[in-house]
Amino acid sequence: MMERWRRWLVVGIILIGFVSASEGRELRIKHGDYNHIYNHTLAKILVEYASAVYMSDLTALFTWTCSRCDDMTTGFEMIELIVDVQNCLQAFVGVAHDLNAVIIAFRGTQEHSIQNWIEDLFWKQLDLNYPDMPEAMVHHGFYSAYHNTTLRPGILSAVQRTQELYGDLRVMVTGHSMGGAMASFCAIDLTVNQGLRDVQLMTFGQPRVGNAAFASYFNKHVPNAVRVTNAHDMVPHLPPYYTYFPQKTYHHFAREVWLHNAGIGSLVLMIEKVCDDTGEDPTCSRSVSGNSILDHLTYYNVELQAETWGSCRIVMGNKLVHHRIDEAGNIIMSKNPTAAILQPSIQADTGINSI
Ligand SMILES: *[C@@H]1O[C@H](CO)[C@@H](O)[C@H](O)[C@H]1NC(C)=O
Ligand SMILES: *[C@@H]1O[C@H](CO)[C@@H](O)[C@H](O)[C@H]1NC(C)=O
Repeated sequence: MMERWRRWLVVGIILIGFVSASEGRELRIKHGDYNHIYNHTLAKILVEYASAVYMSDLTALFTWTCSRCDDMTTGFEMIELIVDVQNCLQAFVGVAHDLNAVIIAFRGTQEHSIQNWIEDLFWKQLDLNYPDMPEAMVHHGFYSAYHNTTLRPGILSAVQRTQELYGDLRVMVTGHSMGGAMASFCAIDLTVNQGLRDVQLMTFGQPRVGNAAFASYFNKHVPNAVRVTNAHDMVPHLPPYYTYFPQKTYHHFAREVWLHNAGIGSLVLMIEKVCDDTGEDPTCSRSVSGNSILDHLTYYNVELQAETWGSCRIVMGNKLVHHRIDEAGNIIMSKNPTAAILQPSIQADTGINSI
């Protein structure tokens, strides 16, 4: 009991403001022992990358001049932007010099209706054995979106080029929603198959991706993982967790950080609760019903969705970036990592591209 109160009271960074006031005052309360697990400032930076990767004007995104390419991400050096057109997937790799880190960001779904996509999540089966890990099951659609598309080769090559120039920068992987699921598979791939150390993962509103055996494998290999969940966001509740089938059900990996408001009179406290290390802390997002799509689309006041829903829209904004698209339709814009300003060159990619 004491422990729980300590968490509730001490852990959060608490925003205090009057309900009617438009701007709250941010008060920093001591973080207790959770500093090494969750860093509020870093979360606010990474959520901006997770938001920018939704932009559909590839030129503006590649040159980091898009409307979401500013604020805490100013100065980002884009290395590679990958668009798997057939599967409507998008990701980028670049260097955040202020963080001394390689950032890898994955876009969430851009289907015609986020509602349909979410409803579909109820029915996702655990239908693929995770390679080389007995008992570990994952959903093949999430797995394949990263492993079996143009994204993985593009990302691995960009990370390698970046490290050749800058040395061993730490790698931070992020994404929202379905992008968080792909980011998770990327983080464990970089660790287990590429031998990178200290890969950091932070996702926003991601669904469950595998079973309990996969979650414990994941926790072991990617201990520096934070899954941020927001209030009543539906997606982290899906695919469902069945308490009466603990061995057979989907199971989140650790560690959740649950954002929610608590009102005390006319005060609203924004609480960031660092949850336990089970992945399924019943006192975090699971203590409320997941009934909100709106809570899925905004984290830390940052919008996490495409500007317009609909088809997989691609815009090549201006003349700066020339492009060729092959029969498969995939686009890779890439440049060598260097602080110097280079004319970006684009190569069409012929990789595999079906889920
Ligand atoms: C949190 O992250 C920011 C940005 O990377 C960094 O400047 C700061 O030192 C970190 N704080 C702690 C306590 O690690
Ligand atoms: C990967 O894609 C290939 C070709 O489309 C397909 O045959 C294969 O089943 C896919 N693998 C997985 C794990 O989905």
